[in-house]
Parts: sequence; structure tokens; C-alpha cells
Amino acid sequence: MRTAEKIKEILDEEGNNVNFEILSNPEFLAEGTAIQNLFKSDRVLIGGDSTKSGEIAVQALVDIYANWIPREKILTMNVWSSELAKLASNAMLSQRISSINSLSALCEKTGANIDELSKAIGMDHRIGPHFLKVSSGFGGSCFQKDILNLVYLCKYYRLDEAAEYWHQVVKINDYQKNRFAQKIIKELGGALNNKRIALLGWAFKANTNDSRESAAIYVAKKLLDAGAYIQIYDPMVIESRIYSDLSSLFDKEIKIDTIKYCSSLKDANNNVDGIAILTDWDEFIEFDWKDFINKSNSEIRIFDGRNILEEQLKDYRHYYKL
Ligand SMILES: NC(=O)c1ccc[n+]([C@@H]2O[C@H](COP(=O)([O-])OP(=O)(O)OC[C@H]3O[C@@H](n4cnc5c(N)ncnc54)[C@H](O)[C@@H]3O)[C@@H](O)[C@H]2O)c1
Repeated sequence: MRTAEKIKEILDEEGNNVNFEILSNPEFLAEGTAIQNLFKSDRVLIGGDSTKSGEIAVQALVDIYANWIPREKILTMNVWSSELAKLASNAMLSQRISSINSLSALCEKTGANIDELSKAIGMDHRIGPHFLKVSSGFGGSCFQKDILNLVYLCKYYRLDEAAEYWHQVVKINDYQKNRFAQKIIKELGGALNNKRIALLGWAFKANTNDSRESAAIYVAKKLLDAGAYIQIYDPMVIESRIYSDLSSLFDKEIKIDTIKYCSSLKDANNNVDGIAILTDWDEFIEFDWKDFINKSNSEIRIFDGRNILEEQLKDYRHYYKL
């Protein structure tokens, strides 16, 4: 926050009288699509001082981007606008997710379908269809950190109402993670002692092995606290990462004998009472769930934290979507 200002202060004091210009050029690269985002950026922000030397520095960076980004998509502005725009963009994206997730709770209570709602809302061209997919909560290294940064800034400037507004986005995200876990616990009969649950997906989104702030970690903790035995599978996240994520949530060492890392979907689904989908991996969508259910002895409950199996499982009595 105000990084450019701080760096300028340091260089002014310790820069051996060399003339520096500080520019802000936030990146908008999402994991898994970084190269695509770089080459086909929606926009590039370049913030700099409006002094003569500042304008020259800004122009030098504009000229580099202009090699592949259309000029009208390169926005120049003051340094702080550029820094704040990065925070605000992530806050707006996560606000959309929390909005749709909060509506999913209302849909569940009243019998509406959240996917139908998302589609209907997103077709309004003033709103648009992006970031309206319901889930058990957003994750990743950026969203929560950036919103909390914004909350801190608002509080610092005594804008308490604005701070509270943005804080609610994070609170709804926590609410949604908890709501999903509670639904699993309730449908499996309350206490989960002697219950085995497959947890499918550990990454915060598909096509990455990153699990930072992943909803899966919080849901796993709730299930373990309720006494469950969990079998975890993710196509890309490695075993040691899963254990270290869990250890960081528990104050004490986690009991390894209540968790099993599985190296395949088949392994994870073996001999379970319930299955919870946490990440929207293609492998889970493409799996033949009907065949799996037909071959299973018991009536396994399937909890879809991404609403990706509805087409296959809408007629299955024990299918629970968001
Ligand atoms: N990841 C980085 O290293 C990084 C670095 C700098 C800036 N950023 C900025 O942060 C933003 C977030 O990046 P990210 O890598 O966390 O990925 P992302 O924006 O794709 O995903 C963040 C979260 O949003 C959810 N999500 C994605 N699409 C959704 C949809 N249509 N509906 C509902 N939820 C959806 C994901 O499941 C995930 O939990 C980027 O857009 C980028 O501007 C990211």
C-alpha cells in the first residue's frame, strides 16, 4: 500500500543523488492464464508523477507495452490511482462472488436455483456474466489480502462505513465456506465420528497447484473438528502441501490417522459415506458419476461445492448442490 511513495522516500534519502522516477504498473495476471492475460490484457495501468521527468518515464513504459497492446488500452494516471485501482479491481471481482454466494443461501431456503439466477443476472449487459458462478467460497493469494488492505485503508481514513462494506465481502466468504461444511455435517447426521468423507479438490481453483486460502482447507478443518475421517484427492496439489495447509490451521499437530492422502479419484471415493467437491477440475466433471453410484453398495451423499455435477446427478436422491 502506497509502495511507490515509500520507495521514493527511500531512494530520495539513500539513492546517492541519482535521479529516480517511480512508476506503478500493477499486474492483472490470474494463475493458469498469466501468459494469455499478459498478451491480451484488458488494460495496462501505468501510474507516474505529472512532472516533466515523470511524464518521460511514463512514456518510456507506454512505448514498451505499445509493441503488443493497443494504445487505447494503456491508461496513464497518477501513481496512487494506479496502485488503488489494482486493489479495487480485485475487491470488485470478489464482491461479485460474495454477492452470488449470499444469494445462494436465499435460493436454498426459498427453492430458487442459483445457477438460473446467475444466468439471468449475467445476461443483463450492464452487469455481465463474469464472476457470478456460485462456489463454496473464493480463495487464492490475492482476493482476501487485497480486500483487507482496502478495509484497512478505509479505517485509517476513518471511513468506517466504507470499511464495513468491504469487510462484509470477506465475512460472506467465510459464511459460505462454513455453510457448505455445515450442510455436509447435517446431512451426514450431525456428529461425524466413524464417517468417511472424500474431499475432492484442494487447489483454490482448477488448473493450478496453488492452495493458498483455498476453501478446501477450511471445510476440511470443520469436518475434522466434527470427527470425520477424510480422504483427500487433488490432481495437482502434492501431499506435503496439504498437510502443511492443515497444520497451519490447527494449533497443534494434526492427527495423521484421521486424514488420508489419495493419489487418485478412485482411491478417494473408496468406501466413503460422503463426497465433497471443492475444486472445479475437469476430471471431476468428466467422471462417470452415474456408473459410480450404480456400482456403490451404499447411498453415498454427494456435496457439490461448485455446482458442476448437476447435469449428471440432478435425479440422484443424495445429490446436494449449492
Ligand atoms: N495470482 C497472482 O499471482 C496475481 C498476481 C497479481 C495480481 N493478480 C490479480 O488477482 C486476480 C485474482 O487472481 P487469481 O490468480 O487468484 O485467480 P482468479 O481470479 O481466477 O480466481 C480467484 C477466485 O475467484 C474464483 N473464480 C474465478 N472465476 C470465477 C467465476 N467466474 N465465478 C465465481 N468465482 C470465480 C476462483 O475459484 C478463485 O477462488 C487476478 O484477476 C489478477 O488481476 C493475481
